[in-house]
Amino acid sequence: MQLLPEYKQDVPRVERFNMVARLTHWGHTVTFLLCLFTGLVLFLDGVDWLAAIFGGYSGAGLVHRISAVIMTLVIVFFVVFDFKGIINWIKDILRFGLNDIKFLLVFPLEFLGFPVKVPPQTRFNGGEKGNSIVTSTCVILLVLSGYIMWFPAIFPAGWVRVAYPVHDIAMVFATVMVCMHAYLGSFHPGSGESFWGMWKGTVRSDWAEHHHATWYEETYGEKAQTDEAE
Ligand code: HEM
Ligand code: HEM
Repeated sequence: MQLLPEYKQDVPRVERFNMVARLTHWGHTVTFLLCLFTGLVLFLDGVDWLAAIFGGYSGAGLVHRISAVIMTLVIVFFVVFDFKGIINWIKDILRFGLNDIKFLLVFPLEFLGFPVKVPPQTRFNGGEKGNSIVTSTCVILLVLSGYIMWFPAIFPAGWVRVAYPVHDIAMVFATVMVCMHAYLGSFHPGSGESFWGMWKGTVRSDWAEHHHATWYEETYGEKAQTDEAE
């Protein structure tokens, strides 16, 4: 059984994510998952087996803090080296329109693996725009509340009290989103090709044309070539 679509080198491919975006995404994924599993050790009762993986409860606390600092550095790296990419990402989210709503209406069928005709999408489809907003908000809340919990002496007592439920709620929302997102970005039959975009940087042109028709046309289509020639 093949879970990921084959990476085809001998067909036309187009660039989807640059090196900085890919290093950020995977660096963030590893540190996020480490924070999640060590955080669950601190959050849940009776998970001695999970705590044992990190050398006990205090080991989990230490790995949590180290991963949190690396995660923060990864975010700083993204801001410093691909600020333009972040601005373009935000601009794309703000282009949310009728075709994104149409996408969200057919998305449950797409998610369940039925073949659907995807309405023309920009760089990120309606679901990815939603995912971008929810996960980024949750991560910002996790980082802010996390440092407040870490250094309670330098923040007002009210902030420290609020930080705990904020950290927990953001963790739950982010985890639910990441579970769906990780499946869609890897083993999901229709969108699995996107994995190669995030792993190697390119996707098949025909896949890009079908899944992100507006982005493809604007970036690699005839219109883009005419604009470039002018
Ligand atoms: C910069 C990022 C982060 C910082 C600075 C941070 C910091 C902290 C600190 C200081 C604690 C308390 C630890 C203790 O009591 O020993 C904590 C707990 C926790 N963290 Fe984080 N964290 C961060 C990111 C994350 C992420 C990404 C997740 C999960 C997706 C997460 C999930 C949790 C959970 C579930 C707890 C237990 C909370 C509780 O007991 O109510 N954290 N974090
Ligand atoms: C094993 C886990 C993961 C896999 C397989 C995965 C896969 C992917 C892929 C393939 C893309 C590109 C989608 C496209 O072509 O537009 C992507 C984008 C993205 N990923 Fe991940 N990812 C994972 C974990 C995470 C985590 C932990 C986060 C944040 C907490 C995250 C946040 C994002 C965001 C915000 C985007 C851009 C918006 C979107 O495409 O939804 N990812 N991911």
